[in-house]
Amino acid sequence: MKFAVFCSGRGSNLLALLKAYESGFLSGAEPVAVIADSHYAGALNVGREFGVYSSFVPRTAYHDNREGFEKRLLEVLAPFEVDLVVLAGFQRLLSGYFLSKFPLRVINIHPALLPSFPGSHVWAKQIDYSVKLTGATVHFVDEGVDSGPIIIQGAVPILESYDAEALSEAILTVEHRLLPQAVRWLAQGRIEVNGRKVILKDLRGSLKDKSFIYPPLD
Ligand code: GAR
Repeated sequence: MKFAVFCSGRGSNLLALLKAYESGFLSGAEPVAVIADSHYAGALNVGREFGVYSSFVPRTAYHDNREGFEKRLLEVLAPFEVDLVVLAGFQRLLSGYFLSKFPLRVINIHPALLPSFPGSHVWAKQIDYSVKLTGATVHFVDEGVDSGPIIIQGAVPILESYDAEALSEAILTVEHRLLPQAVRWLAQGRIEVNGRKVILKDLRGSLKDKSFIYPPLD
């Protein structure tokens, strides 16, 4: 299975994926292309450091022309014949036009426990709401905003001391574990989708504690 990674930021999730690939964890899923839509995306450097083809497709060159932008993304992807597109901090919505080329083959990582807090800049929103447990979600991408079927989630407590940056860091440590796991399951053909239901075949891990409470009970 060949996959591309789309990024807009520093690329720490991309780094987690590339390290997982190098360690053999991705079960044969091979990262073949990185596309960043922002010139400042550190992800381009991360991709290049690992010898993965890394391309800058500037979103700003396509004002009010999402289709033009997506056509360019597809052109860049075409020679690689990827089976999967991973959105790792990609801050753009993809339209049905793009998604129809990869049915149930685009996944995204989001820094909240969906369906709560979809959208952008969700760290401060969760702190302001006084949410106690948040986390990260890997989900299939549909035409909505962070609304596609959920593959895996991990929970993180929001400590009193956290500002948005500290919360983002705490959630990232979970993101870096979830995203390679989801790619591995897809490569192994262990994910079955039936409408909104996503079923992991051949469950291998075990749950030590079935609840997670924060603040902790006395
Ligand atoms: C991650 O926290 C990711 O969940 C978030 O952007 C960050 C990218 O960090 N994604 C979104 O907000 C998507 N709307 P990274 O560039 O270090 O991987």
